[in-house]
Formats: sequence, C-alpha cells, structure tokens
Amino acid sequence: MDKLIIEGGKQLKGEVKIAGAKNAALPLMAACVLAPGETTLRNVPDLADVNTMGRVLENLGLRIGHDGDVMALDATTITSDTAPYELVKTMRASFYALGALVGRLGRAKVSLPGGCAWGPRPVDIHLKGLEALGVKIELEGGYILADGRKMRGARFVLEFPSVGASVNLMLAAAAAKGETILENVAREPEVTALTLMMIAMGVPIEGTGTTTLRIEGGHSLNPVDMRVIPDRIEAGTYLAAAGLAGGDVTLVDVNPEHLSIIIAKSREAGLKITEAKNRIRIQSSGHLKPVDIQTEVFPGFATDMQAQWIALMTGANGSSLIEDTIYNDRFTHVPELIRLGAHIVMRDNVAQVTGPVRLEGAPVMSTDLRASASLVIAGLAARGKTEISRIYHLDRGYERLEEKLSALGARVRRETA
Ligand code: EPZ
Repeated sequence: MDKLIIEGGKQLKGEVKIAGAKNAALPLMAACVLAPGETTLRNVPDLADVNTMGRVLENLGLRIGHDGDVMALDATTITSDTAPYELVKTMRASFYALGALVGRLGRAKVSLPGGCAWGPRPVDIHLKGLEALGVKIELEGGYILADGRKMRGARFVLEFPSVGASVNLMLAAAAAKGETILENVAREPEVTALTLMMIAMGVPIEGTGTTTLRIEGGHSLNPVDMRVIPDRIEAGTYLAAAGLAGGDVTLVDVNPEHLSIIIAKSREAGLKITEAKNRIRIQSSGHLKPVDIQTEVFPGFATDMQAQWIALMTGANGSSLIEDTIYNDRFTHVPELIRLGAHIVMRDNVAQVTGPVRLEGAPVMSTDLRASASLVIAGLAARGKTEISRIYHLDRGYERLEEKLSALGARVRRETA
C-alpha cells in the first residue's frame, strides 16, 4: 500500500488549480443513465471514486470514454439492472444506481451500501422516498429490489436534507408520471448541479437551489454537455493547509460562493483571504486565533471540512471547539493527530483543540478520505518527517495531491510499498 512521506515545516507559496468536484461528478455520471445517447461531462476529476462509478455504469451497459478531464458516457443501451455488492461496497455513491435505474428502466437491483469508517450511514430516507413515489421496495440477500412499474409523482418531505437521498429521489422522479414535490431537499452545490443537468436533459424542475423541488416526470430525455463545478472541499483543504503551514497560496478555478462560511471562519482565525471571480488567495503568518465551528448542511460549515479544521486549529493560540452535528463519531483522525503532538480532547461529538503546538513528524495512518487530508495538513506544518500510510483513502478524493503540494513548495513524495 502506498505511503506519503512529508518533510514538514515549509511555508506554501504559489497557485493551485482546483479540480472538478468529486461529489458533483458522481451524481452527474449517474444521471447519464436517464437518457439514451452520449452525454459529455467536462472538468471531471481524475479520482479513484470517479473510476469506481465508471465501473458501476459500465456494468449497466454504458460505454465510457475519457480524454483528459472530458468524459463521454453513452447510455444508449442498458444491459443490466444490477449494481453488484463488489462495487457498491467500495463506494457508497454507487447507490445512486438505484435512482438512475428506476428513472430509466423502472426497476433496479442494487446492493445496500455497507457502513464506512465512521458509522452506519443508513439509507432509510432514500427508501421511504421511493416508496412515496409508488416504488415497491424489497430487501433480499443484501440487495434492494425496486419495482417502479406503478411509480407516480407524489409529495415527499425528507426528514433530513440527505445529499444522497436527494440525488436518488430526483433521478427516480424523472420517470414518475405527473408532478413530484420534494421538500427539505439538500441544497449542497453538487445537488444544485444535478438539478441544472436534469433540466438541461428535459426534466422540468422548479425551485433549483432551494429546499423544495417540483419535478415533472415522464418526459423523454436527451443527453447533454455539462461542466462539473469546482470541488469546494478540495479548495477548503488547500486553504487550511496554507493556513497552518503559513505562506501565500492562490486557489484557481474555484467558486468562492461555495466556501462562504469557510472563508468567514478562516478570516476570524486570522487568515488574510482575498476573493476574486474564480480565485481565492490565502495569506497566513501561521499565527492563528481559535475559532469554534459546528458542522451544518449547506450553506453551513461542511462536515467534509471538519477534520481539516481540527488540523488548522492545532496552530491556534487558545482552545477551540469543533462539533460535528451531521455524523456521530467522524473523528478517527483525532488519535492520529495526537500522535503528531496535537492537544485534542473528545467529549461526545465535540473535539476541544488547544494550541498552539509545535507538531512533530511521526508515522500515522489514514482512516478515511477527509481524516487523511487532516493528516496531510498537519504533516506539512510538523517539524521533521511524517509518514502517512493507507493513502488509498486520499486517492479517492484528491487529484494528484503530492504533485500539487510539491508545486507549492512542500517536500512531499509518494512511496509505493
Ligand atoms: C454525501 O454523503 C457526501 N458524499 C459526503 O461526502 C458528505 O459527508 C455528506 O453528503 C454530507 O454532506 C457524496 O456526495 C458522494 P447524507 P451522503 O445522506 O449522501 C443521515 C466525502 O468526504 N442519513 O447527506 O451519504 C446520515 O447517516 C463524503 O466526499 C440518514 O439517516 O450523506 C448522515 O448522518 C464523505 N438516512 C446524514 O444523514 C438516510 O437515508 C448526512 O448524510 C440518508 C442519510
């Protein structure tokens, strides 16, 4: 398994191009299933999770071509209604095959996603919503069997604005004759990107970007040519890295509107942030103030930035409280950060971080995607060598990380074990 070796203690300087958003590319790829013909997606990030989604879709019969960051997905013929356990267990977003297949074929056989490193992550809202649309749901041998032959438009209120449930229900509603009203839908920019793609494909939808979507199902749909929005979490990760290591870094091809709360909190922490149309400049002396955060659904502070914020706060002069209200126990990075010398105390779902500490390099282990990002941030600031193992977690969501960091002056290399 690959390792990342970081010689920390150097400031970061220069420009970094932010890739297309993983969490937008995945639903947009799934949406291609809805329309016969070839859809083009641009600015698609080069990530393990994108490749996994490609395999799930090819397993359904799609033909997928790649040319740099341009992906062509031909969904003319669907040859299977099944998303197998072997693929779904490696990436939860494969579960989007459920809504896509119900939206295209009116039926699906999709493996239930397993848990993940930090908890059960149920799909009850997905299933309740499909049943509200008249889809018959059975569970057999770990697979969801969905029969949408009697599907009709309906009103459904999500008990929690789940990103994944919103995606699956939107995809299925495209085929539900009549009007579907989804209330308390997720407002994450990646869900809005899916709404815009589906409208372009020929699904009349009202309420884009709001928590209530009115979807008129039953229309025949066309393939489209869409650009994937920038990855706000990759951007936030580089922002936190520059904040803790110190330096002067400009993020390019980014949408500052998708990072408003993160930028506001970073300014409170003492970072100098300059925003332009699709650029964000971060200047940091490395001297930071403690800032408490609570994760919330968009436009609140993203849970996917919680681990990175804890790493940043290890350099703050004082104590800060970081609470994750979205997930229970998404803190597997804390014991690893403590190995690097961080002072963190956990109380229920709240981490109390006290700084500033001079982090010292050490061998640490990635446990999940954003946890490993926090270890990279800490390793860049730590004195001496930090060795991060199991970085396949990082490769799921960060494109060419060591290349981008080296271009900013970091001393980082990948060791293929
Ligand atoms: C998406 O996961 C993201 N993944 C996650 O990013 C992100 O952490 C999460 O949204 C929250 O923003 C992708 O977009 C591919 P949810 P998802 O359904 O859809 C509970 C990353 O780092 N819930 O919004 O699985 C659930 O347990 C990944 O890129 C139910 O109870 O998240 C959790 O507590 C990690 N029942 C909360 O809602 C359900 O049916 C948020 O989950 C569905 C969800």
